[in-house]
Amino acid sequence: MGLLDRRLLVLTGKGGTGKSTMTAALALAASRRGKRVLVCEVTAKERVADLLGRPQSGPQIRELLPRLSSVHVRPQTAMREYGIMILRSEMLYDLVFGRKIVKYFLEAAPSLAEIVQLGKVTWHAEKDFEGSRRRFDLVILDAPATGHGLTLLTVPEVFLDLVHEGPLAADMKWMQALLQDEQRTQTCVVTMPEEMPVNEAIELYDALGKHSLPRGPVILNSVFAPRISEQERVAVARGGPLLSAVADAADAHEARAELSVRYEKVLREKVQQILPVPHVFDRQFGIAALERIGKALEPIL
Ligand SMILES: Nc1ncnc2c1ncn2[C@@H]1O[C@H](COP(=O)(O)OP(=O)(O)O)[C@@H](O)[C@H]1O
Ligand SMILES: [Mg+2]
Repeated sequence: MGLLDRRLLVLTGKGGTGKSTMTAALALAASRRGKRVLVCEVTAKERVADLLGRPQSGPQIRELLPRLSSVHVRPQTAMREYGIMILRSEMLYDLVFGRKIVKYFLEAAPSLAEIVQLGKVTWHAEKDFEGSRRRFDLVILDAPATGHGLTLLTVPEVFLDLVHEGPLAADMKWMQALLQDEQRTQTCVVTMPEEMPVNEAIELYDALGKHSLPRGPVILNSVFAPRISEQERVAVARGGPLLSAVADAADAHEARAELSVRYEKVLREKVQQILPVPHVFDRQFGIAALERIGKALEPIL
């Protein structure tokens, strides 16, 4: 069973390792294969629409490309949607929970924002039907970085430790069942071939395991392949001062390629499956780059 056969994919990992990039590449690959995909972004800034060269969606679901939609899941909007679902009335919700009071609650109860955000994401993955057909085949969550990502994914667990009865607990139960079911959900850690990102990835991978959150392949992003042979280096060195910048660049590239080999090995010893994704050297990082990354992702799709 490949990644795209799941209902919910979660991408997390250290900041700047490529979570949003992988989210966009996976969404593009899935939509090209005929799946209707929803990308959910929960971090402060929307990124995925930019990467796809489309205007940002904001808090309403918007189709960016054929079969590929995205939404910026903001706590305030998500809470309103949840409230309306329960009260069955927009007017009543706005009457009871004005903007100010919602803002107050979101600020006063730190995990409330996560509860409603995760609630919206999992609802689209599990309960969003148009007639008898699911509205989306696949939901991809571009999750926050490491610690905050784990906090988001363990919201149901933490909640259910404290509260067992009532409608919110019932919702938390199906949310947790979805997150912990490896047939329906996979959480992929994204990392890069550098010391800190790899150490953090291993810790996060272990933590996900401890919380019984099924782990997909760890994506080792921005891998440099060796390109410059010893012979070529000698030839460049012969160019003397004229080519010294080129020689430095070649050395830097090969140093990163060595790091890639080293950290791929370190990771392989610690996690079940890894998938290397090459660094893409495009100046304009857009759809063409995402397609290249999608090709690298193919073995796990
Ligand atoms: N495989 C890659 N090759 C080249 N650049 C990449 C690659 N993956 C990500 N990047 C670049 O790295 C930066 C951080 O990626 P991003 O997906 O925004 O990370 P995150 O969402 O984890 O913070 C971006 O500028 C992105 O274009
Ligand atoms: Mg991001």
